[in-house]
Amino acid sequence: MKNVLMVCLGNICRSPMAEGILRAKAKERNIAISTDSAGTSSWHQGEKADARARETMRSKGIAIDDLRSRPFSPEDFDLFDYIFVMDRKNFADIFDLAKTEAHKQKIKLYLEESSATKVKEVPDPYYGEDDGFEVVYELLVEATHRFLDRI
Ligand code: 4NP
Repeated sequence: MKNVLMVCLGNICRSPMAEGILRAKAKERNIAISTDSAGTSSWHQGEKADARARETMRSKGIAIDDLRSRPFSPEDFDLFDYIFVMDRKNFADIFDLAKTEAHKQKIKLYLEESSATKVKEVPDPYYGEDDGFEVVYELLVEATHRFLDRI
């Protein structure tokens, strides 16, 4: 069974949404997969996902109330098959922690790896308007279907 880790800055907006979408869509498609998410920062450690992220997900029928923020740990390089980052800053931060070529190879921009859209980074919705979460959802759903199509 593949293990997938989703990574963003705070682990309260984009990566818990990505985790929740992957978990839900894999279940719908009867694909066995293990999911987790983490932040490059520990600013929100132990917190639930942002209320706007949870509300957007709830409106799509996907609950992520069980998820709690945690920081990325170098041990994650050995625990996960795929480490998907949401933007290039996340990529650089995680890449800096990778000590082997094999670990570096696991790090991918989720949209670059899995999406057909020209957008290669999931925009950070934290400081923006509420509709930013809708944009994030749409980008992640498309990428997730493509990811599940090829694993
Ligand atoms: P995320 O969004 O990386 O998608 O979870 C953010 C969450 C919190 C902060 C920034 C981005 N923050 O500055 O606390």
